[in-house]
Amino acid sequence: MFSKAAKVLQFLSEYAQDLWLTLRYNGYSPLVERNRRQFYKLIIETHTIEKGLSLPRRRTLFGRDKVRFVMSALDAYEPDFSPLPAQMALGALDAYLRFHREQGIQDPLLDEVAALLARWQDRQLELRGGIKPYRFEGHDPAGPVAWLQSRSSLRMFDGRPLPAETVRQVVTLAQSAPSQCNRQSTQVHLYQDRATIDALLALQGGSRGFSENVGNLFVVTSEIAAWGGPGQRNQTYVDGALFSMCILLSCHALGLGACPLNLAVTNAVERRIKVAGGIPTGERLIMMIAFGKTVDEPLRVAASPRRSLDEVLHMHTGTVSP
Ligand SMILES: Cc1cc2nc3c(=O)[nH]c(=O)nc-3n(C[C@H](O)[C@H](O)[C@H](O)COP(=O)(O)O)c2cc1C
Repeated sequence: MFSKAAKVLQFLSEYAQDLWLTLRYNGYSPLVERNRRQFYKLIIETHTIEKGLSLPRRRTLFGRDKVRFVMSALDAYEPDFSPLPAQMALGALDAYLRFHREQGIQDPLLDEVAALLARWQDRQLELRGGIKPYRFEGHDPAGPVAWLQSRSSLRMFDGRPLPAETVRQVVTLAQSAPSQCNRQSTQVHLYQDRATIDALLALQGGSRGFSENVGNLFVVTSEIAAWGGPGQRNQTYVDGALFSMCILLSCHALGLGACPLNLAVTNAVERRIKVAGGIPTGERLIMMIAFGKTVDEPLRVAASPRRSLDEVLHMHTGTVSP
């Protein structure tokens, strides 16, 4: 009895610490340095423009407010912190301008974009965002490096449900994912019914512009029961995310398109998704994955350029003095 009560207190203590860490370090916290917050904000907002450019049906002058926001955020950004957000914003704005100019569209917004690009030319930053053409390649097992580097989130689906055998093959391959103590808590829920997919994607909210072409949808979850002590409180997400990555790679290996869809939702929305998808309450939602055959036309993906290696890799090879 005493040890059970102690465990509950440990849970409370751990969650209070998580809360503090989140409050202290989240992107809105005034305690986080401004450049760091701007870095993420600019990348996130810019990505919506390049994603918009990668969609199957592109509306003329889409994302007007977003474009204006990115322009003002770019002007307020200090590229010395890291050039990537500025390079991405310039690349995306340049692609946005070219997309409209190629169709002969005139608008004051486009003139503003052109003026901004001209203004930034002096800074001599490489343009890295926008869209890039896409072809499935590297399926030759002799070329695993090219194969790994050629995965991209694809959003141009043909909308048709895949045969059960293919879906089973995708998940079988994904079961190569490692898991803590091999406990394999990850569960994969498949949806192919139009109404259910629409209901689930409406609750998810990140697939606008291509949701109607999603004919196959996974909801990846992790069974909470597989995790015990308070030190393990986030492991559902760790194992679930590794499994999800393997699903993306399985799709890639089989020549299927796939796009991860975030489930950064409140507990209330999580409960509604569980009801809509018939998912047991004792499972934690990890993410959705839209997947399937792609359309029979040249494919486009968001460029999603990566940070420089030195911003990511920290080689603590010598003795670390605390
Ligand atoms: C956890 C997670 C959630 C994501 N959620 C969405 C989403 O809701 N909608 C979307 O279109 N793309 C989503 N993406 C795709 C990312 O935008 C994409 O992975 C990123 O830009 C890197 O590009 P790449 O996958 O083509 O390499 C998500 C990716 C991850 C890993």
